[in-house]
Amino acid sequence: MKQIITDKSSTEAAIEKEERYGAHNYHPLPVVLERAEGVYVWDVEGKRYFDFLSAYSALNQGHNHPKIIAALIEQASRLSLTSRAFYNNCLGEYEEYITKFFGYDKVLPMNSGAEAVETAMKLCRRWSYDKKGIADNEAKIIVCEGNFHGRTITIISASTDPDSYGRFGPMTPGFIKIPYNDLAALEKALQDTKVAGFLVEPIQGEAGVIIPDDGFISAAAALCKKHNVLFLADEIQCGLGRTGKMLACDHENVRPDILILGKALSGGLLPVSAVLADDEIMLCIKPGEHGSTYGGNPLAARVATVSLEVLKSEKLAENAEKLGVILLAELKSIKHEMIELVRGKGLFCAMVIRPYKGKDAWELCLALKENGLLAKPTHGNIIRFAPPLIMTEVQLKECIDIIKKTVAAF
Ligand SMILES: Cc1ncc(COP(=O)(O)O)c(C=O)c1O
Repeated sequence: MKQIITDKSSTEAAIEKEERYGAHNYHPLPVVLERAEGVYVWDVEGKRYFDFLSAYSALNQGHNHPKIIAALIEQASRLSLTSRAFYNNCLGEYEEYITKFFGYDKVLPMNSGAEAVETAMKLCRRWSYDKKGIADNEAKIIVCEGNFHGRTITIISASTDPDSYGRFGPMTPGFIKIPYNDLAALEKALQDTKVAGFLVEPIQGEAGVIIPDDGFISAAAALCKKHNVLFLADEIQCGLGRTGKMLACDHENVRPDILILGKALSGGLLPVSAVLADDEIMLCIKPGEHGSTYGGNPLAARVATVSLEVLKSEKLAENAEKLGVILLAELKSIKHEMIELVRGKGLFCAMVIRPYKGKDAWELCLALKENGLLAKPTHGNIIRFAPPLIMTEVQLKECIDIIKKTVAAF
C-alpha cells in the first residue's frame, strides 16, 4: 500500500481537529496513526511503531489480517446488512460455528461489548424470573469492585469507578458489589435468595490486568452452582487467546453459564460481540423482546467466523502462552525505582509505575512512543502491555529491548 508521508504539521493539524470538533471523552497519546499491518502501525510522519495495546485486545489477530480482510471485502461486496427482519445465508453458518467452537447451545449476536454485557444481564434476570422463580423486578446481580463492563447507564450502575458513574445518575438498581477475588464475600452475597447471577471478568483488564488467585474462578463458579445462581464471564478483553488459552476461564476448566465475547471476535474490523448460553437460559428471551439492527448482520457473521478460524488455525493462544512467559520474565527482570510491580498472564501484562523524579506512567508512555512502541496508562499509574498475538519471538525481543532502554533512560 502506498504510504502517505507528511510532516509534523500534519500531526498537529489532525490533533487540533479532533480537539476542536470531537467530544473530549478520551485523552490520547499525541500520535496520529495512518496505516497498520500485523504488529505495526505507522503515523502520518512515516514513523513505525509496535502496537502494544492492540485496541484493548480487539486486534489479537494483528492489524489487517489478510484472511479476515478478504472475508470482509468479499462479503461486503455481496451482502452486508439485511436486518433481522429476514434470514440471511451467513448468520446460521456463523451461529453453528461459534456455538460448536465454544460448546454452547445458542448464541445471541450483538455489536459492541457493552451491548453484549447488557444482553447477558437481561438474559440472567429473565432466567431468574422464568426458571428460578424470583419475583418480577426483584433480581440482583453480584459484580466486583474495580470491574469494567462498558459505558451504558446500567453497566456504570454496576461500576465502582467514580470516573465511570459519577454525575451520570440516577443509576439502575439491582447490583451487589463485592471485592474482586474474595470468595468469602461472594459466599455471603449469595445468601440473598434474590441473586440471579455473578458477573465477573476472569482477569480485570481496564483495572490494570488484575489476576485473581489460582482457584478463584473455579471456586466462584462452584459456589454459584450450589446456590442456583448463573456464572457470567465477561471475556471481552481477556478472552480469545489473550491469556494463553482460548478463554481465561479455560485456565481453571470453568464453563460459564453465560459467556460474553467482543473485541477480537472481528479481528479489529467491526464491532462484533456475542453472548453464548444453553437453551435453558437463551430461550427465555422470545421474539421481539431483544435485538439490534446490526446484530448478526451477514458481514459481521462472516468476519467473526474467519476471525475465530484464524485464532485456531494460527494457534494464537499457544503463541500468547509461549511469548507471555518470556515477556513477563523480562519485565520482572527490569530493576528500576519507577517499577513498583509487574504482573501478567499470556500476552496480557501490566507494569505498575510509581512517580520518579517528577515523571509518571504518562511520561514513560511518551518515551516508549519516541522509541517506537505504543502503550497507554490505565488508571494513571498502570501500563498495560497487550501486543497482537501474531507477534514473533524476534519481534517481542525487539519490544523488550525498547522497554528496557526506555526505562533505563529515566
Ligand atoms: C471486560 C470488558 N467488558 C466490556 C467492555 C466494553 O466493550 P465496548 O467498548 O466494545 O462496549 C470492555 C471494553 O474495554 C471490556 O474490557
